[in-house]
Amino acid sequence: LSEEMVDVVFVGRSGQRIPVKGKVGESVLHLAHRYDIELEGACESSLACSTCHVYVNTEYFDKLPEPDEREDDMLDMAPLLQENSRLGCQIILTKQLNGAEFTLPKITRNFYVDGHVPKPH
Ligand code: FES
Repeated sequence: LSEEMVDVVFVGRSGQRIPVKGKVGESVLHLAHRYDIELEGACESSLACSTCHVYVNTEYFDKLPEPDEREDDMLDMAPLLQENSRLGCQIILTKQLNGAEFTLPKITRNFYVDGHVPKPH
């Protein structure tokens, strides 16, 4: 029995495109980790961090189910929030997402780029 697969693309922090094969039913965070893509996921999908923050290309963003309130609250704490921001651990791959692009923000709460954002004390 072969699992249903979808083709999606991650866009890394320096703009590199990484095409990957996702399994229907897995989260974007899980998929990223299978491919060693540096999406953090510090709280292991329990909606207690925002380090799995990704941007979803608009066409596909509109196909996602609405985020629940806890996801929205967490997203509010993510740096560089955009209209098309979601938490990667809450996006579950479906057939509909075939072709979607997930872009990693330049920074997350636990990842400060030297010289761009001062470290918190
Ligand atoms: Fe922490 Fe997604 S991994 S909220």
